[in-house]
Amino acid sequence: MERLKVQDICKSFGGLTAVSNVSFQVEAGQIVSIIGPNGAGKTTVFNLLTGFYTCDAGSILLDGRPIENLPPSQYVKEGVARTFQNLRVFPAMTVLENVLIGYQSKIEYGWADAILRTPRLREQERAAREAAMEILERLKLSAFAGERCAGLPYGLQKKLEIARALVCSPRLLLLDEPAAGLNPQETAELADFVHGLPEQGFTILLIEHDMSLVMDISNYIYVMDYGRVISEGIPEQVQKDPKVIEAYIGQGGIRHASEG
Ligand SMILES: Nc1ncnc2c1ncn2[C@@H]1O[C@H](COP(=O)(O)OP(=O)(O)O)[C@@H](O)[C@H]1O
Ligand SMILES: [Mg+2]
Repeated sequence: MERLKVQDICKSFGGLTAVSNVSFQVEAGQIVSIIGPNGAGKTTVFNLLTGFYTCDAGSILLDGRPIENLPPSQYVKEGVARTFQNLRVFPAMTVLENVLIGYQSKIEYGWADAILRTPRLREQERAAREAAMEILERLKLSAFAGERCAGLPYGLQKKLEIARALVCSPRLLLLDEPAAGLNPQETAELADFVHGLPEQGFTILLIEHDMSLVMDISNYIYVMDYGRVISEGIPEQVQKDPKVIEAYIGQGGIRHASEG
């Protein structure tokens, strides 16, 4: 079943066409990756998928429902969650508290509930903690629940950021360069972690520069260059495609984790 179907989306900034008639799809329960040189338009695609930018043209269907050009706050409710290219966790807060922030969009109470600490509010707080602890357990992070993020290794903070995005059980998770800034061992651990998400029922769209990671864990890959999809296929096909190799040559060839 198609979880996500993107059809001919376009986005220009002034004279610059960042995304030009891009189409792709993601099957439920798979890891699909978008790769391509810097400036290819990958992050712009994510911004279009989450309402940070509006599409100039094209359509985006999530489980058959059109979701293009909704207000950004609507996307979490529709079931699209994301992480960012730069780490965004709150260092002074604990792991559990950071995950609770991800649950906030689901909590519904008014100021009266908050002041009076009504049963409705307490019930929602209880449900939030339960959901947060459950996702930490499923992702084998519960041992760190009470620790402050500031003290944690960077690789763990990255996993935490993903856990926070997953606490609301999104239909689709967008990961933008999750391995950026990780050392080879942390990258390998993160790869295992992301690889395990489909069996937990999650569907992943991944942007990543680290080719070994992408080739190891993707079911299917789309390659972008200059705002267009220039190639697609299973990892073995994409790796051999001369168009892909060509696109990367200008950037010093295809980079692997061990090369930094
Ligand atoms: N808000 C914006 N305003 C102007 N140009 C932008 C904006 N966002 C992205 N771009 C441009 O669009 C192109 C694609 O960028 P981006 O999607 O970030 O590429 P990638 O993630 O593949 O490295 C780049 O040339 C970038 O400078
Ligand atoms: Mg980017």
